[in-house]
Amino acid sequence: MYTVGIITASDKGSRGEREDKSGVVIREIMEAKGYEVKCYRIIADEQHLLEEAMIQMADQDKVNLILTTGGTGFSLRDRTPEATITVCDRMAPGIPEAMRAYSLQITNRAMLSRAVAGIRNQTLIVNMPGSPKAVKESLECILEPLFHGIAILLGDTGECARK
Ligand code: MTE
Repeated sequence: MYTVGIITASDKGSRGEREDKSGVVIREIMEAKGYEVKCYRIIADEQHLLEEAMIQMADQDKVNLILTTGGTGFSLRDRTPEATITVCDRMAPGIPEAMRAYSLQITNRAMLSRAVAGIRNQTLIVNMPGSPKAVKESLECILEPLFHGIAILLGDTGECARK
């Protein structure tokens, strides 16, 4: 069973002024797919706080996957991609490319997400936009290959099943 950390980037959420519906959606979807949600935090849109949370989950909690929601847009406070780029040693651009390609069939506003994905040691970090709808749409597109990617990251060098 792979482990997941969830980070919701939200100023209002971190002050308890907004219910974190997107974090709940991620938890429900991931648990239904057999992942163990090991950590869950709501963090203000401060780059250094987001970096600290990602480093803690990757290096101390050693989760296999960190899913973030929020802070990927154009608002001056949106810093989740920058925090992710800072803490990752290798980027995985195909994941956000796929999320945007899939999401553009649903809304042309998908182009406004600056989400990135990358790898810190043996933890994969994937950004998603902030709304529960966007989270659901993004996850349904990436979940199956994500599982395969994590297996490879953890050293399972078994053959790629051709699909
Ligand atoms: N992606 C999907 N699949 N569905 C959506 O509704 N909303 C977009 C985009 N990506 C959306 C989406 C919108 S309106 C914005 S502004 C950006 O994500 C950034 O969202 P964020 O700032 O909450 O991260």
